[in-house]
Amino acid sequence: MHEQTDTSSSQPSHDGHANVLAVRDRRTGETHDLPIAEGAIRALDLRAFKTDPDDFGLMAFDPGFTNTAACHSAITYIDGERGILEYRGYPIQQLAQQSTFEETAYLLINGELPSSGELREWNEDLRGRMDVPDSFEDFFRTFPPEAHPMTMLQAAVGALGPHYPDAANVTDEAVRREHCLNLVAKTPTLAAMAYRRKIGADPVRPDRHLGFAANVLRMMFQGQNRNCEHPVLVRALDILFILHADHEQNCSTNAVRGVASAQADPYASMSAGVAALSGPLHGGANEAVLRMLREIGSQQRIPAFVDEVKAGHGRLMGFGHRVYKTYDPRAEIIKETADRVFAVTGTNPLLDMAIELEQIALGDQYFVKRRLYPNVDFYSGLIYESLGLPVGMFPVMFAVARTSGWVAHFLEQAVDPERKIARPLQIYVGERDRSLDPSHQAAQLEGAPLG
Ligand code: CMC
Repeated sequence: MHEQTDTSSSQPSHDGHANVLAVRDRRTGETHDLPIAEGAIRALDLRAFKTDPDDFGLMAFDPGFTNTAACHSAITYIDGERGILEYRGYPIQQLAQQSTFEETAYLLINGELPSSGELREWNEDLRGRMDVPDSFEDFFRTFPPEAHPMTMLQAAVGALGPHYPDAANVTDEAVRREHCLNLVAKTPTLAAMAYRRKIGADPVRPDRHLGFAANVLRMMFQGQNRNCEHPVLVRALDILFILHADHEQNCSTNAVRGVASAQADPYASMSAGVAALSGPLHGGANEAVLRMLREIGSQQRIPAFVDEVKAGHGRLMGFGHRVYKTYDPRAEIIKETADRVFAVTGTNPLLDMAIELEQIALGDQYFVKRRLYPNVDFYSGLIYESLGLPVGMFPVMFAVARTSGWVAHFLEQAVDPERKIARPLQIYVGERDRSLDPSHQAAQLEGAPLG
């Protein structure tokens, strides 16, 4: 499981020296050897740096985990400098061209591509699980129609939990798998229900004869005179699902792993993933891009908008990435997919604005210096809009796909011998050594004395 993570191995370095970082602590004059393995030092080794034996030792300070590896993982590989993304070793470009979302989900979760027989069984299994308990119709009616569909989805994923109390038995491998597959299969149904709630329509049940993408379009748009069965549109959604399926230790996956590290059940853990994904700096960015393009309004106003961003007023949504310091490979695939979609639906007037905005930003020193390039969300919203989805549903579609990745990480972590409850440290900067005045009594509304 550990072979894939390497960037620089634990072998002796090229000049024959041991792979050790020797660090001299000028406070004590001592030198400590920190072994380097897999391109990393172990944070706990820093504890050796003490000024007296009762000291805690040094710790690493890393807000946002910008340079901290929290686990070994064999699911997704990213090289942000070269713009490489692979699921289980397969390039994202090949998967987007030659695979389906269901097959990709199998790959992420099981580690290998399925045989044709395994894929048939997998598809049947998932399709058989897509229905949700009948009471979810009433559950969705409790939400005001103006609620954001991502908040509905988050609540609904968590609300599956009480229907499957055995899911709490996360130490049982078969139980974990059962409920993880449930989540992959039921999230699209819940996503479509959130959409139907927004438009005030009754939910549509999944159709066992259709694949994921076709099912999602049908469950959302049935009875609405939409061109939702066109194979180009179905395939475009399928490709978006493949591209969004996993992205290693992103914010929502980290949330899922964090919650699961406390042995919370898969429904609670995936609900936390949806919550994290809803933020505009993460999965909410595709929605934010569309809102931004509409707010800019016309190509003439792009330079003024870019100047405002450079002056620190807001961000260019759909640009920049913690890991990619070049063009996000998913953005390129999405741009090609958009062309095929627009040939069917007619062009989206916001596309020309997006292309112009991209060109201006890519030629501007502010973005060049910070290595800010279009990410997966810059163009995905334009496709979703052309499929007829309201902006609030864009991150919901992202969550439908990403559930397969979250589940793969949940299952991987559950058998990782190095797993630990996620519990970072802090640098305390608050008050200390205070005490309450002996006469102090908190005011009690009921008037009963304390003590
Ligand atoms: N527009 C303008 N400036 C930016 C942007 C942007 N989109 N992104 C980063 N910067 C600047 C930032 O102000 C900072 O400048 P300075 O060094 O002068 O302070 C510098 O670039 C580094 O930014 P950072 O915030 O330290 O970078 P990060 O790695 O913490 O953040 C990010 C990554 C994706 C949150 C950020 O680039 C961003 O907010 N992008 C816009 C939102 C977006 O598109 N998110 C989707 C990400 S991809 C899909 C996903 O994860 O779901």
